Amino acid sequence: MNRKSLVNTLVVSTLAMIICGPAMAEGDTQGQIDAIKGVIPKFAVPMREVGDRFQNMYFAVEGGNWALAAYMSKYMNAAMKPASLTKPKEYESWKKFYEESFTPVNTAIQAKDKKGFESAYSKVMGKCSDCHDKMDYGFIKVVKMKMPADVGIEYKLNSEPDAVPK
Ligand code: HEC
Repeated sequence: MNRKSLVNTLVVSTLAMIICGPAMAEGDTQGQIDAIKGVIPKFAVPMREVGDRFQNMYFAVEGGNWALAAYMSKYMNAAMKPASLTKPKEYESWKKFYEESFTPVNTAIQAKDKKGFESAYSKVMGKCSDCHDKMDYGFIKVVKMKMPADVGIEYKLNSEPDAVPK
């Protein structure tokens, strides 16, 4: 290769890298982002956690463990976070549900109001199933369990609802 064609080759390949490099890198990055998104849970996986934490909070209130009830509610909501990325439109419905329909439950927990909690709890349970209906999962109907979903926690314990670390 003479000097001129070496220079030409260098110029051409440098130009190719400048022009195509970012596009190639971008394509790669997008592919990687899509791949990561593809393995982040959508609704079914976090909903299992929602179901369990929702059941557990009832027994926490019954046992006077108000902090555990508040904790269950907080992480019931946090469990759905992956859906904000994987199912943004449907996540908005969840967000609205938690911020509006679920508020009476949270208010009762914070006020240590057992009667208020029981009535808000059974009311909101119907709204869980309403959303299932609306999203074509009417065959998933939430019912109250006779026992908490997780039995490895002490539910009967005195605690304050504001004792959950921020
Ligand atoms: C924004 C709508 C919406 C709300 C509100 C909602 N869900 Fe769901 N839930 C779904 C959808 C959709 C599914 C089906 C899973 C899927 O689409 O991947 C589901 C599935 C479930 C499942 C079955 C999970 C499994 O695969 O084993 C349970 C349990 C559940 N929800 C409990 C609840 C409880 C309890 C509440 C209320 C505190 C609730 N859900 C509120 C939309 C909702």
